Amino acid sequence: MSCLAALLAALCLGAAVVARGQLTDDFYDYSCPHAEDIVKARVTSAMKAEARMGASLLRLHFHDCFVNGCDGSLLLDGSNSEKLAGPNLNSARGFEVVDAIKADLETACPGVVSCADVLALAAKYGVLLSGGPDLDVLLGRRDGLVANQSGANSNLPSPFDSISTIIKKFKDVGLNETTDVVALSGGHTIGRSRCALFSRRLSNFSPTSSVDPTLNASLATSLQALCQGGDGNQTAALDAGSADAFDNHYFQNLLTNRGLLSSDQGLLSSADAGANATRPLVQLYSANSERFLCDFRRSMLRMGNIRPLTGSAGQIRKNCRAVN
Ligand code: HEM
Ligand SMILES: *[C@@H]1O[C@H](CO)[C@@H](O)[C@H](O)[C@H]1NC(C)=O
Ligand SMILES: *[C@@H]1O[C@H](CO)[C@@H](O)[C@H](O)[C@H]1NC(C)=O
Ligand SMILES: *[C@@H]1O[C@H](CO)[C@@H](O)[C@H](O)[C@H]1NC(C)=O
Ligand SMILES: *[C@@H]1O[C@H](CO)[C@@H](O)[C@H](O)[C@H]1NC(C)=O
Ligand SMILES: *[C@@H]1O[C@H](CO)[C@@H](O)[C@H](O)[C@H]1NC(C)=O
Repeated sequence: MSCLAALLAALCLGAAVVARGQLTDDFYDYSCPHAEDIVKARVTSAMKAEARMGASLLRLHFHDCFVNGCDGSLLLDGSNSEKLAGPNLNSARGFEVVDAIKADLETACPGVVSCADVLALAAKYGVLLSGGPDLDVLLGRRDGLVANQSGANSNLPSPFDSISTIIKKFKDVGLNETTDVVALSGGHTIGRSRCALFSRRLSNFSPTSSVDPTLNASLATSLQALCQGGDGNQTAALDAGSADAFDNHYFQNLLTNRGLLSSDQGLLSSADAGANATRPLVQLYSANSERFLCDFRRSMLRMGNIRPLTGSAGQIRKNCRAVN
């Protein structure tokens, strides 16, 4: 199937499954015609100040969609905030950029554009302005009324999870166990990770090996230097060599054991049964950039379609941090 045909198939499938109130690509054409330009302008200036912000915004959309669907629940503050869950605490970033986008949108078209859609559009421009594909984004999500901290703790994949567990977490939100897991992991072609999330690969790894045997020795040496002293907040590029460029080097790195997280390298190298399904796709995407970019586009559409609130469900928040 060509990429275009595949995209159309993905859209038509979505239309068949979501009977009513489904998302559309022209949702704000009349109610807020400049919505996309407003998001783009803010993401552009944020990435001029710090290129990494594109990655941070992409991750926010992912962390929103995996918890109660793509409903902006990640953005709510308060004691049950998802921001305080393990996978997000001292980790998820870009909330100030989202606030600035939302403030501009409220000035231009008050009460119209949802926070959940802001995350989808910010992810689109984060990818595009990193040199990635121009993602199709469907719009019309409404904002949830509750945050779900325990859901964030249980649903979001951890870098310490086995590949089988990661596959299960994707299936639990309705995503495909092979293409979606591997193509979306390719989001790690941009961005950074803190030492706390990979340093266990660098020393006292197992009774027989100090360093993770599936970690490239020269990369291990430089990461040991970075993380020594135990500052878990030091960061390394998820895609060594092209940290801020959206490309398929992430997959090429896996072929030379240069995946940063255990969950990255595991897609190719893990002995876990789940890796039997992911390994061939790593090999395909490392050799075929077009296929990666096409599958990433399709998978992002599917991720953005996870259980959206539509019609009169939820609300359009005025401030993404609190319900109205
Ligand atoms: C497959 C399971 C996944 C696991 C285990 C995982 C885990 C992680 C971890 C541990 C970090 C570093 C966090 C930190 O240093 O505090 C990270 C960063 C990141 N993740 Fe994932 N992730 C996964 C899937 C995804 C998906 C599906 C996307 C998006 C499509 C994504 C996009 C990102 C991005 C862009 C960053 C860098 C963020 C930044 O630099 O601020 N990840 N991920
Ligand atoms: C929180 O997320 C969990 C896991 O997805 C789900 O079972 C639970 O119903 C959610 N709770 C609320 C209040 O939405
Ligand atoms: C996942 O996607 C692949 C390729 O697009 C397809 O062959 C496979 O049947 C899908 N699996 C499921 C469970 O939908
Ligand atoms: C990382 O920084 C956060 C916030 O500044 C701090 O609370 C935490 O203790 C630091 N973590 C490590 C492992 O140094
Ligand atoms: C480790 O990475 C270097 C490039 O940084 C590469 O030349 C070497 O072949 C890699 N080693 C293995 C075992 O893949
Ligand atoms: C995974 O592949 C290995 C070797 O190719 C094979 O021995 C093993 O049985 C496979 N596991 C599953 C669950 O298919």
